[in-house]
Amino acid sequence: MNSDFNIVVLGSGKGSNLGAIIEAIRTGKLKATISAVMSDKPLSGFVLKAQIESLPVEIIDPKSTEHLLERIQFFAPKLIVLAGYMRILPARIVDAFAGRIINIHPSLLPQYPGLNAWQRAFADNISTAGCTVHFVDNGMDTGQIIEQSVIFRKLDDTAETFFSRIQIAEHALYPSVIQKFVDGVIGNT
Ligand code: GRF
Repeated sequence: MNSDFNIVVLGSGKGSNLGAIIEAIRTGKLKATISAVMSDKPLSGFVLKAQIESLPVEIIDPKSTEHLLERIQFFAPKLIVLAGYMRILPARIVDAFAGRIINIHPSLLPQYPGLNAWQRAFADNISTAGCTVHFVDNGMDTGQIIEQSVIFRKLDDTAETFFSRIQIAEHALYPSVIQKFVDGVIGNT
């Protein structure tokens, strides 16, 4: 679906959230266009998914802030969507797009910021877990929280079933939050 609301998606992982965003666009739930996907991991599932969908793919050198900034600016996205991008964005980029970069994180922030969030939550036996979409600032998962989804640990949960329910929640939450930006309910683009 074509839309004036264009996004750039950054990721390094298996790309399931990218897949959910693509699917939401395909089914009309999300009225946005993906201008480009950018990754520091050329062989990732994230990149493969984008290639299968014939989306423009940019492989970036995360150490070259100048290049990344230039490539993002080239596409002039209304919103930059981090979907499993396993790097800290340089302050220069965060500042250049303040209020227009969002991330999804597999915990109920401010609990469990940083790496291995859901694994730590599972190891701690917490009964209430979930995922968070938040604005990106210069801290580690410290930006303003936009929306969260809660899941409850089941008695027979394994680490895999626990995380798979968090991911199902992510896949519903992320496209719906992006659509709220499209609708002007969140943000000022
Ligand atoms: C998700 O769990 C997300 O919360 C975290 O990284 C993971 C990316 O998963 N930031 P995928 O690559 O979208 O499957």
